This record gives sequence, structure tokens and C-alpha cells, in this order.
Amino acid sequence: KCNLSGWWQNDLGSKMNLSTADSHGNFSGVYYTSVSSAQKPIEPSPLSGSQHLDEGECTFGFIVNWKFSDSIATFVGQCFSGDNGDEVLKTSWLLREKSDSLSSDWKATRIGNNTFTRV
Ligand code: BTN
Repeated sequence: KCNLSGWWQNDLGSKMNLSTADSHGNFSGVYYTSVSSAQKPIEPSPLSGSQHLDEGECTFGFIVNWKFSDSIATFVGQCFSGDNGDEVLKTSWLLREKSDSLSSDWKATRIGNNTFTRV
């Protein structure tokens, strides 16, 4: 079964600790980002996610509600077994900043990719 629980680190050095998924595939966790575009000191931030519970290399998603910023991030991804058998999470994210006005909505969303491995 696809097991996402435990500590993960990505290519930016950010870390997250995920709980065991419940019978619906829902899980929670804490995200420790290594980088930020906010003006305030970084704080650990709660995340809420959901995964498929089928056999093998499952897909999942989660939302991070930043405690130190008015932005919000969503991640979607899939767990893979790498060449050496280690688990790898390939994810894509959207980071939504709070806009001052409707006219600046166009520049409020960033997109990117992160790869996570077990800490
Ligand atoms: C902010 O800058 O307003 C909050 C922190 C955002 C951190 C982003 S989320 C996507 C990317 N992956 C990470 O691990 N950290 C950055």
C-alpha cells in the first residue's frame, strides 16, 4: 500500500511530517518550508490532504495554510518507487498570494514542482 506517513524533504530543503491516512485516505501534517516570499519569519504550517488507497503508486493532494503569510498552497503528486527502491514523491504546486485588488489578480498565482524523498 502507498504509505505517505512520516518525514519527507524536498529539493528546496523544505520538510513535512505527514500522519497516517484514515480509512477515507484523508491525512494531516505540518509543513516546514525552507523558503518564503513573505516578509515575516517562517513558522511551521498545518496541512490537510487526501490520497488514493489503491495498491501501488498512489496519487494524492494537500493544502498548506501558511501561518506566517496570507498565501495558500496546494500540492498534487504521486508516490513512486525510485531506481534504488527508495520512495519518491513527484509533486506540482500552486501558490496563491493575496491580491490587493481585482486588477492585480493576474499575478497572484505561482506554479512549480517539488520532489520529496524520505528524511
Ligand atoms: C509564502 O511565501 O507566502 C509562504 C511560503 C511558500 C513556500 C513555497 S510553497 C511551494 C514551494 N515549495 C516549498 O517547499 N516552499 C515553496
